[in-house]
Amino acid sequence: MAQQQQFLWWQSGIIYQIYPRSFQDSDGDGVGDLKGIISRLDYLQWLGVSAIWVSPIYPSPMADFGYDISDYCGIHPLFGTMDDFDALLAEVHMRDLKLILDLVPNHTSDQHPWFLESKSSKDSPKRDWYIWKDAKEDGSEPNNWLSVFGGSGWEWDEQTQQYYYHAFLKEQPDLNWRNPEVQQAMFDVMRFWLDKGVDGFRVDVMWHMVKDDELRDNPPNPNYKQHEATYEQLIPAYSTDQPEVHDLVEKMRKVTDEYKKRVLIGEIYLPIHRLVTYYGHDNKGTHLPFNFMLINIDWNAETIKSKIDEYEGALPVGGWPNWVIGNHDQPRITSRVGTSQAKTAGMLLLTLRGTPTMYYGDELGMRDVPVPPEEVQDPQGLNMPDKDLSRDPARTPMQWSDSENAGFTTGKPWLRVAESYRRLNVKKQQAEEESMLQYYRRLIRLRQAEPALHIGDYIPVQAKSPLLAYIRQHDSKRILIVLNLSHKPCMFRPQHERYKGTIVLGTASERENSKVDGNISLSGDEGIVVVLS
Ligand code: NOJ
Ligand code: MG
Repeated sequence: MAQQQQFLWWQSGIIYQIYPRSFQDSDGDGVGDLKGIISRLDYLQWLGVSAIWVSPIYPSPMADFGYDISDYCGIHPLFGTMDDFDALLAEVHMRDLKLILDLVPNHTSDQHPWFLESKSSKDSPKRDWYIWKDAKEDGSEPNNWLSVFGGSGWEWDEQTQQYYYHAFLKEQPDLNWRNPEVQQAMFDVMRFWLDKGVDGFRVDVMWHMVKDDELRDNPPNPNYKQHEATYEQLIPAYSTDQPEVHDLVEKMRKVTDEYKKRVLIGEIYLPIHRLVTYYGHDNKGTHLPFNFMLINIDWNAETIKSKIDEYEGALPVGGWPNWVIGNHDQPRITSRVGTSQAKTAGMLLLTLRGTPTMYYGDELGMRDVPVPPEEVQDPQGLNMPDKDLSRDPARTPMQWSDSENAGFTTGKPWLRVAESYRRLNVKKQQAEEESMLQYYRRLIRLRQAEPALHIGDYIPVQAKSPLLAYIRQHDSKRILIVLNLSHKPCMFRPQHERYKGTIVLGTASERENSKVDGNISLSGDEGIVVVLS
C-alpha cells in the first residue's frame, strides 16, 4: 500500500508577516514592540493563521529599519528585552502558532563589532569577513557594481585605503560568505534562536549571499527605463545568484535540520526557472523559496494562469510551492490591483496550492498611505526621491480601532496612520459580517478546514479570459474556484464537464450556500469557491 504523505505545518499552514515597528505599540513611544505583538496574538488566533514571521527585532542603528543588525543574538530595546522575546515565543506556542524570525546573513550593520574589527586594519583577523578591495589604478571603484538603494555598491575607507562592498546601504556592509569563519558564526546565530525554540527563519536576500570570486563587472541592462531604480541599469549577473550560493543554502538547511520541524524560507527575487533551483539538489536547499509572482504580475487572467502553470511545471519533485501576496518592500495588494479586486486576490492566494504568506493589514484592505516628502523615512525613498520608491506607504501602523492613532499607539506614531482608519479598522470590521476582515477570516478558516485546499492537487480548468478557474482535489473531494479578474460580469461555460455543487464561499456572501449546475454567471470582480458534488 502506498504510504500516506505526511504534511508539515509550514506546508499546510498560513504565514502572516508582522512588521514589528507598525503592528502594535505597548509603551507609547510610537514604535511597535514585542509586548504589543503579544497583546494581539488573540486576534491572530481568531483570524486563524498558523505562523507569524516577524521582521528584524535585533539591536540595530536602524539605518534600514532593522535590516542593519549590530547584534544577531539580542533584542533592540525599542522592541523590548530578551525576556519579552521569550514571553512572545511562549505565548505564540501556547496558542499553537509558530514563530519565524528574520535572518539577515548577507550583511551586518557597519556598527556590528565584526565590521568595526574588520575595518580597524588591513591585518585585522576579521578583515576577510567582509569584501574589501583595492581601488583601481585611477582610484576608482574595483568594479561597476551598484547598490540596490542607489549609487555605487562600493564605499571608500580612508583609514585603511580600500573599498568595501555593500549591496544595500553603506551602513550595511556585505559579509564575505566564502570565508568559513563567517559561515560558522552565522550558523551559531541560527542555533542560538533554534535552541530557544523558534520555528524557523525567513532568510533575507538569499540570492545575494555569494558574489563572483573575481568580482567581474556586471553587464549593462539594455531594457533599463529611466523611472526605475538606478540599480536596474546593470544586470546583476556577477553580484547575485552565483552557483556557489547553493552549497551555503544547503549548509544552512543542515543547521535547520539539526532541529525538528523547523522551516527555512528564502527571500529570492528571480525568474521562476532560477527561483526553483533554490530548493537545491534533492530538495536539500531552502524549504520555501519565496514565490513573489503575485506581486510582480500583470493582473489579468491569461498572465496569471500561464504563470501558475509555469510555476507548477518548474517545481522539482517533492518541492513544496508557496505564494506571497505582499510584504514590507512592496506596494500593498489593494493598491496594486485596486479595492475592487482585493477580495479576488485574497481568494486566489488562499486557494492556490502551496503555503500562502499574507502581510499584516491586507486582511482589512489597508491601502498604501501617501507619505509627504518631509516625512519619508525609508532610505530607498530618501536616496532616490524622484523615483517614487519609498516603501513607507506599505509600512504604516496597523489599524485596530477608531480611537486615536487607530489604537496603534498612545504616542506619536513613527509613521503616519492612514486617514481612513476611523472607517477602516479591525474593531469595526469584526462587527460587520460583510467586511473584508470577516471575508478573509472565512477564507482562512475554509482553507484550514479543507484538505483539498491546504494539501490537495492543483488542476487547471479551461476558462475564457477574464476568468481564471481551477480545481483543488484531495481524495474524492473536489473544490472548484472561479475568479473573475475583470470589473465586468461574465459567464463561466465549462467545456469538458458539467460542474454541479454548492458555493461555500464567495466574494459576495449572498451567493454562499446556493447551488450551481453547468454554466455559472459571475459579477464583475467576483470569485466563488464551489464544493463539487
Ligand atoms: C530585503 C528586506 O526585505 C528589505 O526590507 C531590506 O531593505 C533589504 N533586504 C536589505 O536587507
Ligand atoms: Mg513601543
